[in-house]
Amino acid sequence: MSGLFFHYYRSVSISPESPPRSGLILGIETSCDETAAAVVRDGSETLSNVVASQIATHSPYGGVVPELASREHMRNIVPVVRSAVQEAGITLADVDAIAVTSGPGLAGALLVGISYAKSLAWALGKPLIAVNHLEGHIHAVLLEQAALARESELDPLPLPAMALVVSGGHTHLYLVRHGKGWRYRNVGRTVDDAAGEAFDKVAKLLGLGYPGGPWIDALAPHGNAVAVPFSFSQIKSKVHRRGDPGALDPAIETFFSFSGIKTAVLRYTQVHEMSTGIEARRTALHANPAAKPADALPLCDSQTLDLIASFQRAVVDDLRRKTFRAAEQFGAASLLVSGGVAANRELRVRFTSEAAERGLPIAFPSLALSTDNAAMIAAAAYPKLTAADFAPDTLTADPSLALGIAAARAAETL
Ligand code: KG4
Ligand code: ZN
Repeated sequence: MSGLFFHYYRSVSISPESPPRSGLILGIETSCDETAAAVVRDGSETLSNVVASQIATHSPYGGVVPELASREHMRNIVPVVRSAVQEAGITLADVDAIAVTSGPGLAGALLVGISYAKSLAWALGKPLIAVNHLEGHIHAVLLEQAALARESELDPLPLPAMALVVSGGHTHLYLVRHGKGWRYRNVGRTVDDAAGEAFDKVAKLLGLGYPGGPWIDALAPHGNAVAVPFSFSQIKSKVHRRGDPGALDPAIETFFSFSGIKTAVLRYTQVHEMSTGIEARRTALHANPAAKPADALPLCDSQTLDLIASFQRAVVDDLRRKTFRAAEQFGAASLLVSGGVAANRELRVRFTSEAAERGLPIAFPSLALSTDNAAMIAAAAYPKLTAADFAPDTLTADPSLALGIAAARAAETL
């Protein structure tokens, strides 16, 4: 039986032997709550970038509901891919490869994109390329840098670069190099919540909308950012002890922790008896499904605005201090910041001014490429296309897929 299966299995496998012709990649991204497809040429020219957001679906729950995310991806995937291909002015036959996010992310959500991409690749006889979502976020910046370099003959970002990938699911630092392909050394991570998760949870507990980042971003300039002092516990790498699941990886140099500040905000609202105002705001905003962050401003008193501004300042400062320290420690020649939280205006201003003081080039993605999208997946796939680094027919979702190698093991190879 297994022999039969294997025979059948082998007979349908694709052998993508034809060399890349036009560098056209169709990227597909379904790792969380955005169904996205894009067509990118040569990792630097975006021909289309289509994103179907599920915010309206998850908003009533104040967070992503995995089961609903999978169903929404299933509903959206065909129209989104069709739009991406049409907007690019190509046909599916023109693409050289199909790239898809294989992890990390929600298992059911990833599987929708992977199944669809596999079927498409198989039916078209095109190679399939698996992309790590975190590598995609880094390539959102590299894609736009490459486009700028091509258009205006600017120098590309000097390497190695220290990359902060900061989103709803991740807060990671990578030292990025280019040798034989792109290489990533993981030198920092969060031990609990991601920074974006803290934005989302704090917004939720203050009765604001979902996802919380853009709401806090919009309201923070109206408050006093030094009104509420927050402090972060300094986490030191604990030495690995055999069988100790709580031990931190000693190879990672920088640790972030954002669950404490969320609890501190909650405590502040309790101590200052802010629950009546929070409930009134939550009810008013729930009554208006089209509510935008600007609609929340008249619903916030100065104490709430000060709390929001202080929370944002504390998170941005913690990210800034640790990222610049890591850049110095590892001799990075530039910085790049990517992921949904990289859309934050205060973060951009404060990182940019410190980078200018230090004479360190810094790059962010455009706002459209900061949050999840498929152009970044197609861009990250391009070096794999040229290296013929294709996914096996057995590709499946890896919800906790890691990127790169940790510092200790990397020391010999990077
Ligand atoms: O990269 P992304 O779209 O998805 C993940 O890979 O997680 O990031 C979404 C996260 C959410 O937590 C959202 O609140 C946060 O990015 N975010 C922001 C802003 N825009 C999105 N956080 C702070 N300020 C923003 N302007
Ligand atoms: Zn993401």
